[in-house]
Amino acid sequence: MSLLTVSKLTASVGAEVLGVDPQRLASDDSLGAAILEALEDNGVLVFRNLHIDPGSQVAFCERLGSVDYTADGHHEVAGIYPVTLNRAKNSSASYLRATFDWHIDGCTPTGDQYPQKATVLSAVQVAERGGETEFASSYAAYDQLTDDEKRRFAQLRVVHSLEASQRRVTPDPAPEELARWRARPTHEHPLVWTHRNGRRSLVLGASADYVVGMDLDEGRALLDELLARATVADRVYRHQWSVGDTVIWDNRGVLHRAAPYDPDSPREMLRTTVLGDEPIR
Ligand SMILES: [Fe+2]
Repeated sequence: MSLLTVSKLTASVGAEVLGVDPQRLASDDSLGAAILEALEDNGVLVFRNLHIDPGSQVAFCERLGSVDYTADGHHEVAGIYPVTLNRAKNSSASYLRATFDWHIDGCTPTGDQYPQKATVLSAVQVAERGGETEFASSYAAYDQLTDDEKRRFAQLRVVHSLEASQRRVTPDPAPEELARWRARPTHEHPLVWTHRNGRRSLVLGASADYVVGMDLDEGRALLDELLARATVADRVYRHQWSVGDTVIWDNRGVLHRAAPYDPDSPREMLRTTVLGDEPIR
């Protein structure tokens, strides 16, 4: 018998997990394995009204892989990173506005780190309006291509940059800001990611700048079209947050974005990231 009871939220992405409590998530190894399996199957897992405390959230993530402890100094619990537009709580709040566009985390790392394996978000405070998090499967994005497209796209490579994702929210940056973005190395990834599990996904989103060897506008139009097809409304799970909700997503097989919300809103999420161990190839 499966350890987990899950209930699908849409046909292509997302499932709600029922009947688990924070203590079990933090301490039960076999549950961790079952969660990873369900995550692989569903892309996103939702735990409504879980009210997990920050320490247990990090302990839970430790069962899923290696936790990213590098973003410290933001929260008293190591491994917890507050996500908020409030500058008093998060000095890099302006960067977070880029999360209003569809993206995959970690496509433009500072070094040669692999994209994050999974991300956990828990809602401490929610926005009165907006602030939902939306998810679309990048595996489904590949699967829905025609055979001809699958053949044509197999060899395409795409350059990703921090500048591309930041320009979408700050089209006219100050020279110093532009210089900061450009200090981050660009990364060339295949459009089609062939995963260790044998599945294929499309690597799309805000960081995708242009297609190598293709006319700039033509390549960007193709990236835009593929993203639009991947994220049509009936392929999206939109999570409407309540205080105490926890959501985990498979960053390697899911595109995500936050719906805009008032910068003065109290919305605060606590994020923990499980480091990636698989290159895009
Ligand atoms: Fe993100």
